Amino acid sequence: MCGIVGYIGHQKATPILIEGLKRLEYRGYDSAGIALVEKEGLIHEKAAGKVKTLEELLINKTFASHIGIAHTRWATHGVPSDLNAHPQVDHTGNIAVVHNGIIENYRTLKEVLERKGYNVISDTDTEIIAHLISMYYEGCLTEAVRMALSQVEGTYAIAVIDSRSPEKVVAARNGAPLLIGQGEGENFVASDVAAILRYTNKVVYIEDKEIATITANDFRISTIEKIDITHKVEEVGWTLEMIEKAGHEYFMHKEIHEQPETLRNAMRGRLNLEEGTVRLNGLTDHLDDLSKIKRIIIIACGTSWHAALIGEYLLEEYAKIPVEVEYASEFRYRSPIIDEGTLVLVISQSGETADTLAAMREAQRRGAKGLGIVNVVGSTIARESDGGVYIHAGPEIGVASTKAFTSQIMVLSLITILLGRMRNISYNMGKEMIEALQSLPEKIQTILDNEEQIKGIAETYYKHNNFLYLGRGVNFPVALEGALKLKEISYIHAEGYPAAEMKHGPIALIYENMPVVVIATRDSIYDKVMSNIAQVKARNGNVIAIATEGDTEIAERVNHVIYIPKIKQCFTPLLAVIPLQLMAYHMAVLRECNVDQPRNLAKSVTVE
Ligand code: G6P
Repeated sequence: MCGIVGYIGHQKATPILIEGLKRLEYRGYDSAGIALVEKEGLIHEKAAGKVKTLEELLINKTFASHIGIAHTRWATHGVPSDLNAHPQVDHTGNIAVVHNGIIENYRTLKEVLERKGYNVISDTDTEIIAHLISMYYEGCLTEAVRMALSQVEGTYAIAVIDSRSPEKVVAARNGAPLLIGQGEGENFVASDVAAILRYTNKVVYIEDKEIATITANDFRISTIEKIDITHKVEEVGWTLEMIEKAGHEYFMHKEIHEQPETLRNAMRGRLNLEEGTVRLNGLTDHLDDLSKIKRIIIIACGTSWHAALIGEYLLEEYAKIPVEVEYASEFRYRSPIIDEGTLVLVISQSGETADTLAAMREAQRRGAKGLGIVNVVGSTIARESDGGVYIHAGPEIGVASTKAFTSQIMVLSLITILLGRMRNISYNMGKEMIEALQSLPEKIQTILDNEEQIKGIAETYYKHNNFLYLGRGVNFPVALEGALKLKEISYIHAEGYPAAEMKHGPIALIYENMPVVVIATRDSIYDKVMSNIAQVKARNGNVIAIATEGDTEIAERVNHVIYIPKIKQCFTPLLAVIPLQLMAYHMAVLRECNVDQPRNLAKSVTVE
């Protein structure tokens, strides 16, 4: 949700900033801009559209500047336009600000500024910050930023430069991610490490209500109240290779294909076959509490919420602990009942989703222990949770989540085994579950190897405007996820339903040849799903079934069958979702959509 990158050091700033923006583009991509301090003073260039448009605008211009800030936007205040793009500049033309977040009291501040004679020309809340800094400026940029932020309510990560102090970039954060990258004779500031990984993997995470003053050789951090702070420099484990496309047309395609490996990574060092259990380091300190919990609330948004629904099934079935799954955005505004025996599990790929973070804080305020299932190491949820488990899926750049989803389910499965073995599941069952998990990577590979068939089905149906996805039991959330993937990246209307619910409404939608995707694996409710299929066929719908290898019977009853290998029933989601990801991907490509950067969406939603 908006990407920020800033540079100061011995190299020319522009190429570093543009490259950084390209790597951050998954965060927002409706407009982009850059500000530099040149000999003649502050210059800024910005344009509605993708970073490429900005790059084209700069193509015949040469800049010597060694300091600059840049931004790629996901609009909140004001439509995407050249004027509303960041950087926003103050009325003197000296100060430039890039911002990620929302200033909640911006109307009040705008009125104050206008009464004082400031001319606010854009629709953004960010321009207000630029004018406020200008109003407080008395020779020290850091102090002016500090004063301005003391007036501001809301969330922000900002980077600021001033042509009168070309030796520093000032950055601050409250509720939106921001880190400093430490180089040699150069320093960076960025929303996330992908922007600067080419130059350094040494980072310092700025915390809420902190201001950093960054020069080429140093940085200082203090709180808004002016107390000096020291944070340790951390080394990030991600490599440049991990954030590149490696020959795939889109990141999403690469990430779908990475799943055998990412699932191995999620299991690595955690399985204890001999004792039929698992070891999760992030939970070791909490084992005593975990043995006493009576109820679990899982909080998440989007795809992570679908993983949570699968977690509910697993935990109730095997650990016999009652589970409630909540949308983070709803949880934070309710009056949730949390007692001593309640554990709150928070799932987030990015670890930065504003609603999820706020919900976790609310749960912690009410006395719950909040454990995180997070991908991005060092993210806010990872740092603020009381413990948790990393999913180790590596950087996920395609906006539509794929590999993080399966890794989240993997970690939920591991937690289920851990809690189950502390309670009622036997050694044999624990061992059987672990062995099933170990077999997953190879099984997923066989589905990926069948991509051509799935692509063929996509070619048959990509012009349709409506899809229905049906599943039952643990595969109902897979139906939801399949429908979400399709609508996110191809803009085809798709609904996911529990198969049996179809007769209570969605069946009215079925018209001749309407594609209906049904997860119909050979399990305890196979026969029921077959009746649901018959109901679709009776209305001349076209059924695409995800079925278990060897089930020849189903082929006669549906229009297309995509086979997946047999696996223990509770883990079928990890296989069944793969063809749905590939099908959505190919339909989006055929419809010429930008798969990695679907319209209106952003990877990391750091605003409410
Ligand atoms: C956004 C993304 C989704 C993601 C959701 C939750 O909407 O586009 O792909 O599932 O946020 O994100 P999180 O990082 O908290 O898992």
